[in-house]
Amino acid sequence: MLKSTLIKAIEAGADVMKHYFQGEFKISNKEGVNNLVTEADHASEKAIFEAIKADYPDHFLLSEEAGEIVTDSNFKWIIDPIDGTVNFAHGIPLCCVSIGVEQDGEIILGAVYNPFINEFFFAQKGFGATLNDKKIQVSKETAVLTSCVVTGFPYTYLDLPNGPLDVFDRLIRKGVPVRRLGSGAMDLCWVAAGRFDGFYEHKLQAWDSAAGFLIVEEAGGRVSDFKGNPYSPYQPHIIATNGKIHEELLDVINGRASGF
Ligand code: IPD
Ligand code: CA
Ligand code: CA
Repeated sequence: MLKSTLIKAIEAGADVMKHYFQGEFKISNKEGVNNLVTEADHASEKAIFEAIKADYPDHFLLSEEAGEIVTDSNFKWIIDPIDGTVNFAHGIPLCCVSIGVEQDGEIILGAVYNPFINEFFFAQKGFGATLNDKKIQVSKETAVLTSCVVTGFPYTYLDLPNGPLDVFDRLIRKGVPVRRLGSGAMDLCWVAAGRFDGFYEHKLQAWDSAAGFLIVEEAGGRVSDFKGNPYSPYQPHIIATNGKIHEELLDVINGRASGF
């Protein structure tokens, strides 16, 4: 039942995205001049809430635009109604809905759906990860130097040691291909599918990563903070890899990798 509600909810959000995509909609900005929110983000969130509340009116909701809808349920739905809003607002079809379901503090279900390229990623804790119902696995790459990596950059620049541009600089100077899709949830799913060998980003929010993090782990990958501790979506920094390049990419991020 949880899974079918999750699918109904994510499809409801994706239908809203399709309705507005490349059409006319209101756009405003949040903190940071390019941190956008559109009419479609709010409408997608509303449709997702309705689908969840129809089946589970008492569940806790945490969603990017509405914030927390607090209840005393041990189930929490963590929702990004559009991940990749800047892409969406520019008519770039690299954006998705992301929903993770937490039970007693542990993410047990995750789904990420990009309706424009028809990719539906799903994972259930302990049961593996799928893309359009086919099992997926992380890549087998063993070295950062020969990896294809993806990252994202914050809307408000973070000036800190080993910050986003420092790490980017280290990788680019060595000729490592680093991509920037503009959707943290898709970045994670594309690591899970073996397209990227690793992803890192300074400062993601729980709604960006809750679903994708489970999808990577269930595809055989590893997700941690920048110290190598097990990942929690409630802390900011994320590194997600195929597992094999994890320690080396951590060293690059922390400025202690030989050769970088
Ligand atoms: C953003 C995307 C982007 C990441 C930003 C996020 P939004 O989410 O995931 O890839 O770099 O940090 O805020 O604003 O499009 O939902
Ligand atoms: Ca997001
Ligand atoms: Ca969003």
